[in-house]
Amino acid sequence: MITQHDIVIVGAGLAGLRAAVECVDQADVAVVSKVFPTRSHSGAAQGGITASLGNEEEDHWEWHLFDTVKGSDYLGDQDAVEIMVRDAPRVIYELEHMGVPFSRTPEGKIAQRNFGGHTRDYGKKPVKRACYAADRTGRVVLDTLYDQCLRHQVKFYSENYVLSLVFDGKRCAGVVTYDLATGELHLLQAKAVLLATGGCGRIYKTTSNGFASTGDGIHLAYQSGIPLEDMEFIQFHPTGLYPLGILVSEAARGEGGFLRNRLGERFMERYAPMVKDLAARDVVSRAILTEIREGKGISGRGYVHLDLTHLGEEKIQERLWEIASFVRIYLGIDPVYDPIPVQPTCHYVMGGIPTDVDGRVLMDEKGTIAQGLFAAGECACVSVHGANRLGCNSLLDLLVFGRRSGLAMKQAISKVEHGTLTKDSLRATEEKIKKFFNVRGKEKIGEIRQRIQLLMMEKGSVFRNEEGLKKGIEEIRSLMEHYKNIGAVDKRKAFNFELMEAMELGHQLSLSEVILFSALHRRESRGAHYREDFPVRADRYFLKHTLVFQTPKGPDIRYKPVKITRFQPEARVY
Ligand code: FUM
Repeated sequence: MITQHDIVIVGAGLAGLRAAVECVDQADVAVVSKVFPTRSHSGAAQGGITASLGNEEEDHWEWHLFDTVKGSDYLGDQDAVEIMVRDAPRVIYELEHMGVPFSRTPEGKIAQRNFGGHTRDYGKKPVKRACYAADRTGRVVLDTLYDQCLRHQVKFYSENYVLSLVFDGKRCAGVVTYDLATGELHLLQAKAVLLATGGCGRIYKTTSNGFASTGDGIHLAYQSGIPLEDMEFIQFHPTGLYPLGILVSEAARGEGGFLRNRLGERFMERYAPMVKDLAARDVVSRAILTEIREGKGISGRGYVHLDLTHLGEEKIQERLWEIASFVRIYLGIDPVYDPIPVQPTCHYVMGGIPTDVDGRVLMDEKGTIAQGLFAAGECACVSVHGANRLGCNSLLDLLVFGRRSGLAMKQAISKVEHGTLTKDSLRATEEKIKKFFNVRGKEKIGEIRQRIQLLMMEKGSVFRNEEGLKKGIEEIRSLMEHYKNIGAVDKRKAFNFELMEAMELGHQLSLSEVILFSALHRRESRGAHYREDFPVRADRYFLKHTLVFQTPKGPDIRYKPVKITRFQPEARVY
């Protein structure tokens, strides 16, 4: 079946929905999502959205800019960061007008809380900058944007999995989707396609990411000849619930909670004397793992304690209700009385599909624009987060650049007609599926996935070195060979999750290779990328963005400069 829309958006998280709301007044907009839209992973965001509103204490966008650039370990493009932080207050008021129920100060203003790395007066002390709705901010913003989309009659293709991008010459002209309910392939033709498919945290065993975060959009771009930028920078959030990895929001530390080791020490005082538990995430995660490596994990095991017991029941119930509830459910522990066991958990990919500040996808280091193709949100790399993202800057990124992509697409489609696609455009995808149904391989999807997740934890997580990275790449390539023998056990067309998981696995394998390959070639330590064999940041050689291209011989690496407008790199201390 072929259906035409002006704009097709792949992914129904905050970036995709915000883009849809922006362009639906002048375009026929469709959103395709492999899960029901309100199950998108943005809904799991807990802590808040940053904006220098100054509702609780003095704040300025210049401070927000400085903190974000410093947090990025000077790899963020400063022109893009400036656009984001200047737009932040408008974003919050817009959400408020759409109906987002933000938490309030006693006098009725939007309440704000501390988050790691956000400071006043260029790093002097922590500042309350994150606007929040208790500890379910992503949930309420996602629901509100979904309501807006329904109100404006955005067309949704729920539980449709995009298998490939379709090109008319060099122009992206649509997508091929697999409709889970029927097993049919659809060709959705579009004048512009936006990838807003989120991250790839499910490559790692310990992760805060939902099952859907398998890097589909990032891989769709990569296999279509688009390079991937800065994929070596994978964020581990310091406080994942041990042993599950579920996110325990940084809001817990923002509200006054702190970390303790086996000896009861508040060890962050040693690693970040100025801001302690409110240092940037890469710093806190490395500190936790260093304590554990030194035998100071609780009971000598792989976790430390997050202590909220001094906050009191009222504050925990009012501001951290969600966290307290799932800690009780999963571990049978009550955070009002007992410390929470936590460990770093894979949370976010700073890199992704390179774009300009209006979501246009860039094809090379010269900034050549890919016609008809846009990207926004975690799957994209603008780059505002550089080597390490600050907490609560992600929802801001999704909303600012989701909207800008919507505006840019609206403009772009006014100048083009639909491409000349026929059913032939489905053929390559049909062949791929046919092969999957015909192979009688013995390989099991779950086993290969588990091996990827374990090896990425071991070789490509918080601490890395040359030997491990090389070994990791070798192992991934061997798993790629095994992957060729994967075939369907379940031969049904409808609701064939095996087919979807097999495709996701292919994406996970090739993105793992890109992450390890990029990390191997960055022979320095910067932000979330820490090389034990190169422990120092080396601006002279590596103050540049990585670009990895897919070639028949394997990944190929190139670089492009970082945009520095105001802040020259300095030593990064907290
Ligand atoms: O800790 C958190 O609530 C996460 C926020 C974020 O990743 O921005």
